[in-house]
Amino acid sequence: MKKTVIFILLTAFLLGCQQENNSAQPSEKRDFQNEYKKKEPESFVPSEEPEENNNKNKNNNEKENEQSDEKSGDSLTVIDNPNSVSLVVNKQRKLPDGFEPDNLVEANVSYLAGEGNPKRLLRKVAADALEDLFADAKGAGLELVAVSGYRSYDRQKQLYESNVAANGQEHADKFSAKPGTSEHQTGLAMDVASAALVSVLEQSFIETNEGQWLKDHAHEHGFIIRYPEGKEDITGYSYEPWHLRYVGKEIATEIYQSKITLEEYFGLYP
Ligand code: DAL
Ligand code: ZN
Repeated sequence: MKKTVIFILLTAFLLGCQQENNSAQPSEKRDFQNEYKKKEPESFVPSEEPEENNNKNKNNNEKENEQSDEKSGDSLTVIDNPNSVSLVVNKQRKLPDGFEPDNLVEANVSYLAGEGNPKRLLRKVAADALEDLFADAKGAGLELVAVSGYRSYDRQKQLYESNVAANGQEHADKFSAKPGTSEHQTGLAMDVASAALVSVLEQSFIETNEGQWLKDHAHEHGFIIRYPEGKEDITGYSYEPWHLRYVGKEIATEIYQSKITLEEYFGLYP
């Protein structure tokens, strides 16, 4: 009798241990954590939800904001990594007041603007990549022109305000960033056009050979089409086939292959 009781207790104990081991699955947990970490921007902090947005994501954002070191004001998050190539600037995340990027240079490419115009500037890392991109396009028999790169806060303010005056705020907000929230202020964005259609930046750019080629090759040089078609609800802007943003080859390739936006890549859009 005693032996039977000991046998039953021992069997129950061993079964219990096995179940615990099965449920722990340590290797699976580690993989997920690594993958998540890989996708974090250098200083990843989610944005605060603007007041006008719906409440759908409120719980998530409340949870994420508890981990935030970035400062919020005017319902925008002030990003604390403005010099990172993987920063996210958008309608919810603005650059610190007075931010100016270091190391702005001209790329050796065709420009629409004349010499000395700040529109020709980009941060060195992006300017080098732009040169490679333009050379590659040329090899494919295509002619790109660089139209608008770096913009100071004041220049963006001028552009935004004149767009509002000309077209109304609702329209302006679809195409122009408010000052402090434009990627052009980071020195990592360049608007490009086809040499044959250079006077305007319009969605018809995608109908040119240059526009088509860029859509499928920009990532090979570390650029993304930052405001893609069909993703307006996520980016907050209309389709801009001309607006290139430098993020580096690894991130650009993953974004291109997965057909996602920068917001989705960094988990800023649920
Ligand atoms: N056109 C983009 C959204 C900008 O103004 O930065
Ligand atoms: Zn642009």
